[in-house]
Amino acid sequence: MTIRTIEAGPSKRFFVEMLPRDISLEYAVLDLIDNSLDGAIRQRIDDIRLRRGEPYKGLHCKLSFSETEFQITDNCGGIPADRIDAALKLGRDDPNIDNDKPTIGMYGIGMKRSIFKISADSTVVSKSDTITTRVNYDETWMNPENPDWTLDLEETPPDGGELGVTISANKLWPNISRTFASQSFFDDLTRKISRYYAYVIAKGFKIFVNDKEIPALPVEFKLDDAVISPFYYEAVAEKVNVKVIVGLFRKLTKEDEREEAISSNDGLEAGDLKAGITVVCNDRVITYADTSSVTGWGMGNVPRYHPQFRSITGIIIFESDDARTLPVSTTKGALDLDDRAYVVGLNAAMEGIKTHTDYTNRTKGRESATDTPIQSAPKLSIAQVTQSLSSSARAVRHSNGKARKVVPTLPEIKRTAPIGRIAFSRDKAEIERVAELLGLSTSEKPGVVGEQVWTDLARKLGVID
Ligand SMILES: Nc1ncnc2c1ncn2[C@@H]1O[C@H](COP(=O)(O)OP(=O)(O)O)[C@@H](O)[C@H]1O
Ligand SMILES: [Mg+2]
Repeated sequence: MTIRTIEAGPSKRFFVEMLPRDISLEYAVLDLIDNSLDGAIRQRIDDIRLRRGEPYKGLHCKLSFSETEFQITDNCGGIPADRIDAALKLGRDDPNIDNDKPTIGMYGIGMKRSIFKISADSTVVSKSDTITTRVNYDETWMNPENPDWTLDLEETPPDGGELGVTISANKLWPNISRTFASQSFFDDLTRKISRYYAYVIAKGFKIFVNDKEIPALPVEFKLDDAVISPFYYEAVAEKVNVKVIVGLFRKLTKEDEREEAISSNDGLEAGDLKAGITVVCNDRVITYADTSSVTGWGMGNVPRYHPQFRSITGIIIFESDDARTLPVSTTKGALDLDDRAYVVGLNAAMEGIKTHTDYTNRTKGRESATDTPIQSAPKLSIAQVTQSLSSSARAVRHSNGKARKVVPTLPEIKRTAPIGRIAFSRDKAEIERVAELLGLSTSEKPGVVGEQVWTDLARKLGVID
């Protein structure tokens, strides 16, 4: 037998070339915003603990990008001096960093992966209260063939000015440059930021993209005390606070809208105000408006998502001072579905979804009667829903008092005589001609034209008035 010793350490190529492929450019940018936010959390931890209204007030993160440049800069305190070496390392040695604060970073890879993804040459400048550190990931260091991992840190005493981190790309990769140049990337990214950071923006954090301040677009629920109110659930599982709200955010869909949704894509399944369940960890949205089994659709006795359920919205919130206990993966793009706290949230979400899908079944064909109560109910934020429902939540049986919930209130409609549904097809030209003769627009929906013909004749025959 011989023993041969080999070098089994990591390869540069893996980190600079392969790892960045696991993350989309959008998520790579979001990861950098997360870091600014983690800085903001460290700065304002006392205000956050005391649950002050706007703990992040005055803190911001500004992004700018174009075909030729990328820069992100914040005023969130910089990387603490005693942390800078560890921050530049690939992967965390000490898992206990920040485990007493509700930050989202955890594996020590995000910043570097994003930098490698975006540019062949980048500069990071971190100004903390005790030191300014500047580091350059140049093309020589970034060369996958170069086995040297050392970096030179340029350290200078604080020079006044705002404390924070600035990351600049000095040489965008060609594919990244093309993406940054496209309007659709800008639109998608800003929409994601509005949704994903809605809860921190609402708490005073400001995010700018190419000088545009991004507004918060949080999930909201229709709530009007005795008329309509969402399903509400709160629990503590594995030291994680879990909260689930499932309710309605718009009037119920009627048959013609459902048919239209199935036959032609009207964009409502992908737009800004779409149905589905949003998952939030420590104020950061991980999954927005999901309609898959990840949030319970099509699981157990819950039906799969369908345009009939377009009015249903919900949120599952996990909060913990120790980010490692949150059910989220390193890319923050995926949830840890086997996590015990996640299962608690998921089961509650399924119960909430099921009550609402049952409701849409019960009201089928008579949806119009629910329009007024739903539409006239105000839309409330999570904080407002919590304030309104938390005090009336009752302990859930067999949960050892760890879970409490409120069942939803939904506008019940009077049972009318049994109803039937009429559906048939005709030549398009014939429908348009009839529409014209009835004084309707030729582009009117076939269902509306058919109903008008029926109503006119039924009236003439004296069946209805
Ligand atoms: N803009 C920033 N402000 C303050 N701290 C930052 C900033 N960017 C990165 N850091 C810190 O540097 C360290 C390394 O960041 P990163 O590579 O994203 O790993 P992770 O966030 O998973 O620990 C983290 O402690 C992170 O909070
Ligand atoms: Mg990070």
